[in-house]
Amino acid sequence: MNTLKQWLVLSAISVFTLSAHAGGDAEAGKKIASQTCQACHGADGNSTNPQYPTLAGQHADYLVHALKGYKNGDRKNPIMSGFAASLSPADMKNVAAWFASQKGLTSPRLPNTVHE
Ligand code: HEC
Repeated sequence: MNTLKQWLVLSAISVFTLSAHAGGDAEAGKKIASQTCQACHGADGNSTNPQYPTLAGQHADYLVHALKGYKNGDRKNPIMSGFAASLSPADMKNVAAWFASQKGLTSPRLPNTVHE
């Protein structure tokens, strides 16, 4: 019984650690957003120019997916390819966590499930 309890506690901790890691660090992402993305998407991801998409409130998974696409050429846009190229995989998760946590688009709140 004791062993089972210990196992449950340990697995709960590792699940928590994994999901915290996968979710990205929104504070680190905030820095990237205010330095690099703000001019077009707004510091919190609410774009005031219809040429630029609103990112605030978008699912983090989708944001990471879009950024990877710009970086690897699956998604082609001359402006975004350049910005995405400068982001590491960790930067992408962090900046996605930041925009996803802001009020904007009203996507249903699903558990954060960023996959590699
Ligand atoms: C010079 C303006 C500009 C800057 C700066 C910029 N973007 Fe963009 N971004 C765009 C434009 C234009 C699009 C739409 C491109 C398209 O049609 O695919 C876009 C699209 C995106 C998308 C896809 C949105 C969607 O709904 O599919 C993401 C994600 C994104 N940008 C993230 C970022 C991040 C993160 C940064 C900062 C590292 C950034 N952008 C900096 C102009 C910019």
